[in-house]
Order: sequence, then structure tokens, then C-alpha cells
Amino acid sequence: MKLSQLKLGEKILFGVTGLIIVFAVLSFIMLEVYRSHLDRPMYPATTQFDFSPEGQKGSRLFRTHGCTDCHRALRNGTNQGVSLDGIGSKRSLDYLLQFLKKPETIYETKTMDHGPTKGAAYVAKLPGEELHAIAVFLSELKAIQGSADARLPMPERSGFVDEMVKIWAPDTWKKERRDLREEAASPK
Ligand code: HEC
Repeated sequence: MKLSQLKLGEKILFGVTGLIIVFAVLSFIMLEVYRSHLDRPMYPATTQFDFSPEGQKGSRLFRTHGCTDCHRALRNGTNQGVSLDGIGSKRSLDYLLQFLKKPETIYETKTMDHGPTKGAAYVAKLPGEELHAIAVFLSELKAIQGSADARLPMPERSGFVDEMVKIWAPDTWKKERRDLREEAASPK
């Protein structure tokens, strides 16, 4: 079919689609060029770590036992699964151990993958000392305070947030709930 045989509407449609594709390809190339010239990672790290020898062993096991098929931690693993970055700031070592061994007894809701008949059921059957090393590794993944992985907000007090809380938070909240930022300022 020759270009002249196309109807006006078709020309516009194909033209716009073509432009979008060209734009997407160009943006991708520009982004990659920009990224390759950066001297720092494009996405800042949100987790800091200081591994003990057992934690280091756990980090290796985390990769060799296929946890990275579903999880992300530091720069390993998939992006679509559950990210475990910063988990050491949310969960205790005891919790992590218990979750790895008997997920159903401690997880708040029903598990999708760690249950006895599911994709990650094998995890609970790994040798106890290996699970211990993995739990130590996970407990040492500490979120940088204020990052998206962290439970506590950033240490600096923000006047904007103060103002928003004053205006929007119902009085009952202020009476019944603790302000996490106070806890962040003087940890228990
Ligand atoms: C088949 C995919 C899959 C594999 C493999 C897998 N996990 Fe998970 N994991 C999940 C999902 C999904 C969740 C969320 C809980 C659930 O629904 O089971 C989760 C949750 C977790 C949690 C969070 C618990 C919490 O309360 O926040 C930890 C810790 C964890 N997994 C550790 C591991 C470790 C260690 C391995 C490897 C030994 C592993 N997982 C392998 C899918 C997987």
C-alpha cells in the first residue's frame, strides 16, 4: 500500500505513533548516556550495612539459595519482588529467624509464597545454621533514616510537615498516637 492510499486519519494515527516511538527511543538513549557519565549511582543507596562474618556468609547464602529470584537486597535480585532493603530496621533478628523457619506463625497476614505448599516453601527446610546466617545478614541491612525503606522519618524537623500535621491531623490522633518524629529525635 502506498502512502498516498492512506486515509488522512490513518496518516495522523501512524504519524503520532511513530513520533511516540522515536521519542521513547531517544529518551532511552539520552538517559543511558546521562547515566554512563554520572560519577555516582543514579538512585541513591537507602540501606547501609556493616556485616559481621556471619552476616557475610548469610549474604552469600541469600544469593545461592535463590532468594534473589523474588527479593531484592542491596544491589542483588529482582526489582518486581519484595525488597528486603532496610528490613533490619523494621524487624528484629528473632522475628526474621521465626519467619524463615515458620512463616505462618508470625506473618501478619496469609503468606503468598512462604507458606508450606508455595514457591518459597523450601526456605523453611534449609539447615538451621544457614537460616541463622541469613537472618543475621537481613538484620544487618539497616535503612538510612528518612529513606523510603526506613520506619523513622528524616532526623531534621521540617516546618512544612509540622504545619501540615497541625492543620490536617485530627485531634484524636494527636491524643491517641505517638509522633514518630519525637521518637526519632530521642530514640528509646
Ligand atoms: C517464590 C518467591 C520467593 C522466594 C524464592 C523467596 N521469597 Fe521471601 N518473600 C516472598 C514473598 C511473596 C514475601 C511476602 C510474604 C509472603 O506473601 O509470603 C516474602 C517475604 C519475605 C520476608 C519478609 C518478612 C516480613 O515480615 O517482612 C523475608 C525476610 C524473606 N521473604 C526472606 C526470604 C529468604 C531469606 C529467601 C531465600 C532463602 C526467600 N525469602 C525466598 C517471596 C519469596
